[in-house]
Amino acid sequence: MNAPAEITKILASGPHPTFGYKSYALGTFTFRRDEYFAHIGWKTRDSRPLSHTMDVGAFLNALMRDVAWGFFYGGVNFDDVIGTVNHYTSVDLQAGAFNGTMKAAGVDLLENFPTAQIKATFEDMLDDWTNEGFDPFAAPQETGTPYGRKKGHNRAAITRLRELATRCVGLEGDLPMRTDARGAPVNRAFADVPQDVPELHPEPGFEGEVHAFNLFAFLSRSQVTWNPSFTSVVKYSYMCPTTEEHILPIKHSNDRVEWFFQMSDEISWDCSDKDTGKPLARVIMRAGDMAAMPAYCRHQGFSPKRSMLLVWENGSPKLVYEIQSGEAPKVPVSF
Ligand code: PHB
Ligand code: FE
Repeated sequence: MNAPAEITKILASGPHPTFGYKSYALGTFTFRRDEYFAHIGWKTRDSRPLSHTMDVGAFLNALMRDVAWGFFYGGVNFDDVIGTVNHYTSVDLQAGAFNGTMKAAGVDLLENFPTAQIKATFEDMLDDWTNEGFDPFAAPQETGTPYGRKKGHNRAAITRLRELATRCVGLEGDLPMRTDARGAPVNRAFADVPQDVPELHPEPGFEGEVHAFNLFAFLSRSQVTWNPSFTSVVKYSYMCPTTEEHILPIKHSNDRVEWFFQMSDEISWDCSDKDTGKPLARVIMRAGDMAAMPAYCRHQGFSPKRSMLLVWENGSPKLVYEIQSGEAPKVPVSF
């Protein structure tokens, strides 16, 4: 169903005379970019004007994830000040609402928008502010610069679609060449990952129903970073492997418990209180380590070398409300 026209209408002003980028308004919030920065403005709860500035590369990397993941689970914090909260049919845009200091000072703002409206605005902004040669999904060493005046676009990179399997990956009827990620090259950081294919010995008659593929070989050819893909879906159990290099562009405030299995190399995580940003824990994960992120924390990962991480999510649409009502716990286990 198409959303009503007024809901997807984008409030944008024409290109800036010097920098060439459009500016946007969403409720009380304003967004503009120049050569180096994204500037976000809003009126505080008591109607004073306030603004926040982010490195435009960091801003676009976060915006890319928020758009591509449909606002994800729970809160997507672009940094310690601005972010979104997904309510699954509507989305909050907030500044300082989950920053203890700003909240106490009364200078925060949170406004709710129909998903279609914030989605249309964010997509247009991502398109207008991403220059030719800059790919917000790529590792910093594998892409050009986000900075400077407006120059072309990179629509091919920002509208990448997930490749959808039609049935168990690799089985007949699924897309061809999937086990080598359709011929994509092995990433420089994964040159040592064996590319062999598992041996299969199905019982006669089951040849079309049994398959296996080398997940490490598949991931070694990923062209993007910090972008979990659904590799197995069993009821609401989603196994989402991903390859990570440099910094997770968001601080994720999940609305449920989530598990990490570090499959190669090393990632360190900063975990802090979801509501205030107060630091809670450092988690150093090496190959083979597992950790669970409780539903009361926000987390951001740092991966010095491209690594493989399995993110395990419980995708139940009821879980967030079961946690809110106390029916389901915020922690994976109580000792
Ligand atoms: C997370 O927020 O838990 C997350 C997001 C993207 C990743 C890995 C982890 O690639
Ligand atoms: Fe998370």
